[in-house]
Amino acid sequence: MSTGEGVRESWSTRIGFILAAVGSAVGLGNIWRFPFQVGQEGGAAFLVMYLAFVVLIGFPAMLVEFVVGRRTGLNTVGAIKEFGTARWRYLGGLFVFIGFVILSYYSVVGGWVLRYILGSGRGSYMDASAGEYFVSIASGTDALVFHAIFMAIVVAIVGLGVQRGIELSVKIMVPAIIAIFAILAGYAFTLDGAAEAYSYYLQPNLDVLINNWASIVPAAAGQAFFTLSLGMGVMITYASYLSEDENLAIDGTSIVVFNTGISILAGLIVFPILFTAGVDPETSGAGAIFISVAQALTDIPLGQVIGVLFFATVAIAAVSSAISLIEVVVSYAIDEFGMDRVPATLAIGFLIFLLGAPVTVDTVMVDLYDILAAQILLVIGALLLISLVVIFHTEEALDEIQKGVTDLGWWGYLWLWIVGVPVVIVLGVSLMLGLDTYVKFLQGPFADFLSSL
Ligand code: PHE
Repeated sequence: MSTGEGVRESWSTRIGFILAAVGSAVGLGNIWRFPFQVGQEGGAAFLVMYLAFVVLIGFPAMLVEFVVGRRTGLNTVGAIKEFGTARWRYLGGLFVFIGFVILSYYSVVGGWVLRYILGSGRGSYMDASAGEYFVSIASGTDALVFHAIFMAIVVAIVGLGVQRGIELSVKIMVPAIIAIFAILAGYAFTLDGAAEAYSYYLQPNLDVLINNWASIVPAAAGQAFFTLSLGMGVMITYASYLSEDENLAIDGTSIVVFNTGISILAGLIVFPILFTAGVDPETSGAGAIFISVAQALTDIPLGQVIGVLFFATVAIAAVSSAISLIEVVVSYAIDEFGMDRVPATLAIGFLIFLLGAPVTVDTVMVDLYDILAAQILLVIGALLLISLVVIFHTEEALDEIQKGVTDLGWWGYLWLWIVGVPVVIVLGVSLMLGLDTYVKFLQGPFADFLSSL
């Protein structure tokens, strides 16, 4: 993916594109963020809302990014400039900014994952309680050091050029995640708490939905966008390497199905273990996956080996998403400022490290960055991009989505209408509610944290 480096590359195979997009989509969003969002937002009620948003909002919005990317064949900032007027360059700027913010805390959580590879190898969390172990490594020096290591890995790969890095890692990663997750879900199924967990996770309680919709809606929309890597231009960049005979809707469907399947599987592992261990999913927060999996590994044969494998796989998934995040920024620096790839990647990586450093002070900082990014920034990014396409480029969008398809008929118009009306309304409402959630967070948990300093 050498955006701006002269020769324009394209995906060698269709599966190459799908895998790269899956590599960006599948990451900490599915494995770490999804279970704790489900826990915080009332279980199955959230799951249902999230699934509805993935299909009705995320999928059509993904097609919008594909259309812009393939039509222009440019990096995110360039593509938006070409699609819009000069003023729209601020949207490109916003996408770059979002990349900065997300990667800065993503890398801290990625650092936790790296720390857990070590912890599993040494069996560190087998002696202490899994919860205490998480608290001991999630902030402070350990967290800072592993945040630096995670960023260093990302910088090294992107500095070297991404194409082979991405394609290779996803080819190993996707099957590995599915296999290891299936084993862990099978194990979780045998636990005492499984029945209770399944009903919490899979049986939506309408009352929960009705009483909490104001926080469930923005959380579910944010999660849908975060996990599909939408709202900040990653999918624009990836689609810019696509050839014209590809059917965008079919590719989009494969990506969405893969990505959703992995999220659901993550929940099937986490909740039975939490319920069996007597940990309330609502309070487990950002530590949910770390605490529950560590707890499970303590009990199963070969726990240490599986632990190393599991966290290593998660690390690969996280790195392949992080690469797509930093690439949006790096390609912008190369194009707009004529920088070389290596110094650009090093400088940006260092800035992102600095921006992430405060997140290692306390886990509440993860929420400070995360709610802002997922529930506010990505939603604004998607809203603006959709407006640009639907208001100013209807014909081009329709023309582009038809390519590689025999006859789309009225489906094309239906898609544009869905994106232009219901999607915009839901995103608008969800943005308002997300702002409200954020203000409450700032006045509540965050204010408490500040006063405890
Ligand atoms: N989709 C990635 C994940 O689920 C995170 C991400 C968000 C990547 C936005 C790129 C853009 O982990």
